[in-house]
Amino acid sequence: MATSTMLLHCSNPIFVSIISIIIIYLLIKLCTKPKSSVRYPPSPLVLPIIGHLHLLSSSLPKSFQTLARRYGPLMRVHIGQSIFVVVSDAAMAKEVLRIHDGEFASRFEFGPAEYGIYKDAGFITSPYGRYWRFMKKLCMTKLFSGPQLDRFNHIRKEEIMKLLKSLMKRSREGKWCDLSAELANLTNNLIFRMAMGKRFSKGGNEANEMWKLVVEIMGLAAKLGVNEVHGLLKKIDLFGNGKKLREALERYDRLVEEIIKDYEENRVDIGGGNEDLMHILLETYREKNAELKITRDQIKNFILELFIASIDTSSAAIQWAMAELINHPKVFKKVREEIDSVVKSNRLVNESDVPNLPYLQAIAKETLRLHSPVPIFHRECTKDCKINGFDLQVKDRVLINAYAIMRHPEAWSDPDKFLPERFLYNSSGENNGEYLMEIKDQGFWFLPFGGGRRGCAGSLHAYLITHGTVGALVQCFDWKTKDGEKVDISVGSGFSGAMALPMECYPVLRFDPFQK
Ligand code: HEM
Ligand SMILES: *[C@@H]1O[C@H](CO)[C@@H](O)[C@H](O)[C@H]1NC(C)=O
Ligand SMILES: *[C@@H]1O[C@H](CO)[C@@H](O)[C@H](O)[C@H]1NC(C)=O
Ligand SMILES: *[C@@H]1O[C@H](CO)[C@@H](O)[C@H](O)[C@H]1NC(C)=O
Repeated sequence: MATSTMLLHCSNPIFVSIISIIIIYLLIKLCTKPKSSVRYPPSPLVLPIIGHLHLLSSSLPKSFQTLARRYGPLMRVHIGQSIFVVVSDAAMAKEVLRIHDGEFASRFEFGPAEYGIYKDAGFITSPYGRYWRFMKKLCMTKLFSGPQLDRFNHIRKEEIMKLLKSLMKRSREGKWCDLSAELANLTNNLIFRMAMGKRFSKGGNEANEMWKLVVEIMGLAAKLGVNEVHGLLKKIDLFGNGKKLREALERYDRLVEEIIKDYEENRVDIGGGNEDLMHILLETYREKNAELKITRDQIKNFILELFIASIDTSSAAIQWAMAELINHPKVFKKVREEIDSVVKSNRLVNESDVPNLPYLQAIAKETLRLHSPVPIFHRECTKDCKINGFDLQVKDRVLINAYAIMRHPEAWSDPDKFLPERFLYNSSGENNGEYLMEIKDQGFWFLPFGGGRRGCAGSLHAYLITHGTVGALVQCFDWKTKDGEKVDISVGSGFSGAMALPMECYPVLRFDPFQK
């Protein structure tokens, strides 16, 4: 009312009409805006062009963790031109991975898709749909099912023996080893044999060739991915990395095409459960009445994605475990005593021992909690929905910061300390009470493998080789770092969960498993 009184007293008609137009406009806006507006998750002040880049350090998981303390477990972060919704606690993770699993069962395309040679043939990168459903079912029932993994038992055993042999040689010569490289070689050989075992036994250098190609492809994709995130220069191939990526992919294609041809031309009907993944995929490819016809490009891309998803992740997990064990001699001693008492001392620890090695299992979990090889994973919203009172919309890109969740002080006491004991439970499934997160419904505090429909397909395999390898490395060797100091556990940059530096150390032989 005060305003209109003021207006009545004003004699200039033009002034009066301008003021009234403004007031009417404001009134209309005031009455209509709240209804149509969207309630976005909170976000720091956005600067033009760079967004929140100035708030981010080289390690994104850590930066997001810091921001979340201020802006909450669901926040919006602008990196250059891209906007992400970042999830940072178990309650929000549960919303995305269980309650709204259907709405977030897609992944947004991330990385340099324009240089890919297999268009729309992705599995890990695919949106939720028929092809993804078909392949995921194949993964869970055939490729990575318990029985199939049991059949690969001898492969894991042989490859671990090869690793031990190589380390024993270094030990005899009194030389240090690059444990990171040795472990990546192990996990590469494992996945190669599981996928294309027939070629592996032929000898030759194919497994190594594949490894080199995968490393090259991942490196180039990561470089291009930085541009992608920042949304800058996306269409300009400034350093020629796009071209190099395409060339590397073409070399990969020739290699895998040759392998597939060999499988097709020298087809033997192996039954008896001796199939490798390529056999199973090609069988599905040929099958006339399959639910879905998979293409050759899809097979090739699937194999590539498998290498990318498995080599660095599982070798990083083993490497981190060894680094923490070397840095925590008391823990090392305790797990060695556990192994010695269960295995006795005349044979190598093996997978059947693992159920009797709870401390070894706790070490694997504690390692994944602190040093998840995939500290952040990503999903896309496919249907508008409300989470914690905030609106998420179709096409919103969601990042789940597993790093922050697994170090959240609400769930974990001394969250930054390496304390495997927190995963030891007594016979009634309890320990001090504060570490029960993992076995109760609140499993969403422990997310190294994601969850829901898009959860990791290889977690069983990853645990098998982590237990087997760490157990063997503890049983057979004493470890010293190259410089006698602690292992440097700083992390790589960007989205990486890998150790920044190669892990160079001396293996000192303690138990020789080859001696009968
Ligand atoms: C310690 C090792 C590993 C870690 C920490 C890890 C972690 C993850 C994470 C966090 C995701 C995303 C999950 C989500 O969105 O909810 C994922 C997806 C996936 N991982 Fe792993 N992974 C590991 C090893 C492996 C191995 C060895 C394989 C294959 C043999 C594998 C195959 C896959 C596949 C196929 C997907 C995509 C599943 C889908 O989109 O439906 N991973 N992994
Ligand atoms: C990796 O493993 C293969 C097969 O076991 C071996 O021939 C090769 O020398 C290893 N390479 C490295 C770099 O350790
Ligand atoms: C582990 O070793 C024990 C004792 O030698 C043996 O009975 C068992 O079959 C082995 N298990 C595996 C999975 O190799
Ligand atoms: C297990 O641990 C909890 C918590 O420390 C304790 O209350 C409970 O009595 C223990 N149960 C057994 C069977 O030891």
